[in-house]
Amino acid sequence: MIQKSTIDRIMEATDIVEVIGEFVQLKKRGANYVGLSPFANERTPSFTVSPAKGIFKDFSTGKGGSAVTFLMELEKFSYPEALKWLAKKYGIEVEETVEAPENREEELRRESLMIVSAFAAKFFHETMLETEEGQSIGLSYFKERGFTAETIKKFELGYSPDQWEAFTGAAIRNGYKEPFLVESGLSVKRDNGALYDRYRGRVMFPIHSFTGRVIGFGGRTLKKDKNVAKYVNSPESEIYHKSNVLYGLYFAKKAIREQDNCYLVEGYADVLSVHQAGVENVVASSGTSLTTEQIKLIARFTKNITILYDGDAAGIKASLRGLDMILEEGLNVKVVLFPDGHDPDSFVQSKGSSAFKKHIEENKKDFILYKTQILLKEVGNDPIKKADVIREVVESIAKIPDSIKASVFIKECSGLLQIDERALLSELNKMRTAKAKKEEQQRQQQNNRFAEMPDEPHFFDEPIEPEPQVAKDDAFQEKEIVRLLLHYGSRMIDWDGIANTYIGPFIIAELSDVTFDHPVCKQITEIYRREVENGVLPDEAYFIHHKDKSIVDLTINMLASKYSLSENWYEMHKITVNDEQVNMKATILGAIFHLKKHKVGKMLEDLRSQLQKADTEADQEILLNQYMRMKKVEKSISDFLGSVIIK
Ligand code: CTP
Ligand code: MN
Repeated sequence: MIQKSTIDRIMEATDIVEVIGEFVQLKKRGANYVGLSPFANERTPSFTVSPAKGIFKDFSTGKGGSAVTFLMELEKFSYPEALKWLAKKYGIEVEETVEAPENREEELRRESLMIVSAFAAKFFHETMLETEEGQSIGLSYFKERGFTAETIKKFELGYSPDQWEAFTGAAIRNGYKEPFLVESGLSVKRDNGALYDRYRGRVMFPIHSFTGRVIGFGGRTLKKDKNVAKYVNSPESEIYHKSNVLYGLYFAKKAIREQDNCYLVEGYADVLSVHQAGVENVVASSGTSLTTEQIKLIARFTKNITILYDGDAAGIKASLRGLDMILEEGLNVKVVLFPDGHDPDSFVQSKGSSAFKKHIEENKKDFILYKTQILLKEVGNDPIKKADVIREVVESIAKIPDSIKASVFIKECSGLLQIDERALLSELNKMRTAKAKKEEQQRQQQNNRFAEMPDEPHFFDEPIEPEPQVAKDDAFQEKEIVRLLLHYGSRMIDWDGIANTYIGPFIIAELSDVTFDHPVCKQITEIYRREVENGVLPDEAYFIHHKDKSIVDLTINMLASKYSLSENWYEMHKITVNDEQVNMKATILGAIFHLKKHKVGKMLEDLRSQLQKADTEADQEILLNQYMRMKKVEKSISDFLGSVIIK
């Protein structure tokens, strides 16, 4: 539990643009910021942040909320975890009551896995620094490889003792439960049910999520024995999916953004050495071939990737095709080779930081030109082979979304391949047409998805998509009330100089005889009423930070939408949408009585159907009387609405 006053302090300190900016590249657009959705694959940015309102809205998935909601959605933080993350970022101290070990089971599975992983990282790190075995084996190994105490601390490197139960025993004693030890892969279960340590006698590299939480491990053996696996890595789990993790990204992302470039290396040791040498924008795919998810992770921070290859990598040629994927994402790819026998780690450790940087500057080549050169080497005089090479090169170029950039490559490659530029261009166009067709199909699918979005459209001050027609929704009058409460509830309204009242309490009082049907509108108005009765005027932040997700969602939708009420209605009553604040009285009364009219309309409908079913004359008469009375109410509401609006 975190105290309310602390939560308030955290909220006050939080700058939503700064927080989200850590994960998404944001561009200022008017009063807002836009970027590519971190929750969906998209090419045109639909993800919008409003610093004034302190909220974000992702139009391609419909997600939205505060900085806290963002962290919960993206990192799957629990509510307190998100608060703690923000508190840490803004240097706010959080007093929390320590949870008893028996409460751990109640935590969400993911959270439990993260907690046990954090515990393990700490255990391995401390074991290495503080025990004799740790120092003489683990620490001395890392020192020998040239890692400084600072690097060891920053990356939380560690050592797992060469014993069967050193870690497992400590974890159990500290209240961590078996299922999480097993699912995280930290412990292995024997047939007889007993647990033992997975990483016995290995040096440990914790793998951090890009918000800095430990989600997995790589453990390197210190044995030379060829029969022992060099690395043992965490198995896939609910928190660790190796295809969308890049080792080192958490420590690199700031530098990646600043340098507008990301170095990609192969191994843990490469990341550590290069980072330590002051080139901090470096990540590793950790032995797997690069995935689209990993590329997208990088693309959030930069559009430039430079791949640092081992000199002895026989796999370079094999990996060439895989790199087309990066081009497809619209990124620029450069490659740098290291001299035979060297990888980035050994090069920088033996030759030093400035020689390393110099080597990169002097040897970086654009990927497409590099690929062309490599493939050409094998062609000789074979025209068929040459045709294959041409096709393969143009295939890569066709993947580049930017056509101007592509045509520059066509020019350069026509020189290298000694083939007429026009021939290459015609090949390129063929591939482009096929590609465009495919993309059109995808766009169609995306449009369909957009049309299926359940709620009314929600817009910030500047719509980034054309404003679709507002759907006629049974609940929209109720939502309009909620919208007005959120926007103007704590403002005063002047009733012709007679009296000033707060808009929120006024609306609530006027609607005391109305029952809301939409469950969330009902909840919000009830909360509002209760708070007003307690002498509090809840503001938008109150609902943005509410623990009930459906309340937060509706709040965001209402805050993000400028006018949720049917445009027709305004049209009909001759007020333009821009007038809503000028003509506040009409807006408020209009909304209240519009809702009342809607409710009365429903009652009338109800009475009509009862009338049709009524058997006896007596029943019919009673119903008819009720119907007439209701009709009068409806008429007076209509008259009133008319008069209010005309004024
Ligand atoms: N790797 C792995 N499992 C293996 C071998 C390698 O997961 N059996 C992954 C590791 O992430 C490793 C990367 O592939 O970091 C690169 O492999 P390699 O070059 O063999 O390891 P290095 O990290 O360079 O280790 P070292 O320099 O200590 O030999
Ligand atoms: Mn290496």
